[in-house]
Amino acid sequence: MRIDKLLAHSGLGTRKEVKKLLKASMIEINSEVIKDPKTQVDPDVDVILIAGEALDYQEFVYFMLNKPAGVISATEDDMHETVLDLLQPSDIVQEPHPVGRLDIDTEGLLLLTNDGALTHRLLSPKRHVDKTYFAEIEGLVSDKDITQFKEGVTLADDYVTMPAELTILSIDEETQTSKVEITIQEGKFHQVKRMFHAVGKDVLYLKRLSMGKLTLDPHLELGAYRECTKAEIAQLKA
Ligand code: URA
Repeated sequence: MRIDKLLAHSGLGTRKEVKKLLKASMIEINSEVIKDPKTQVDPDVDVILIAGEALDYQEFVYFMLNKPAGVISATEDDMHETVLDLLQPSDIVQEPHPVGRLDIDTEGLLLLTNDGALTHRLLSPKRHVDKTYFAEIEGLVSDKDITQFKEGVTLADDYVTMPAELTILSIDEETQTSKVEITIQEGKFHQVKRMFHAVGKDVLYLKRLSMGKLTLDPHLELGAYRECTKAEIAQLKA
């Protein structure tokens, strides 16, 4: 990779700003001052110093976000704020993208990374990565719904979903609403909402709690994010 790209990706400024650092003899590669922004560098092999300090370059970034409602799971949008707008400028230089989509009104766990291979694995329909949601439902969820979800639900477009695990947390007869947890193995568009629709119910509130082995950190406020720990990254890759 070119040294100017690597330095920019490391949060040292724009390509133009990075060029100034190079011109000012502040960058050394393997003990040699480098001024040419086109110089090729391998961060796994070469020792890169910035003003004498070693650069700790990380090719991949992994962030866990507690997505709030009203924000789009995309990298750009003309109308709405995107999940990338919630990240610090220094955290977007390496161009993370959301792994999958949550609806604009859905809250909860969203992984953001620039690791394309991991994204591909987590989203592959062949891998059936479990996604668990907490949901508030208009209507009284019943044992019949649990059975139907276990057997697969036929959606309005005749698609039969894979088995899903539905757990009733509480039922409120007075307001005719229910609180549930649901684990699905797929990630079809509006899947949870369409599954409840298929059994005559509406989702009032939806929050993703986990994706594969990655569980939403309960200390993360809505809209807040943090880097995934080494253990979390290892579990995601396992
Ligand atoms: N299912 C939905 O209906 N919406 C989401 O955002 C995620 C799963």
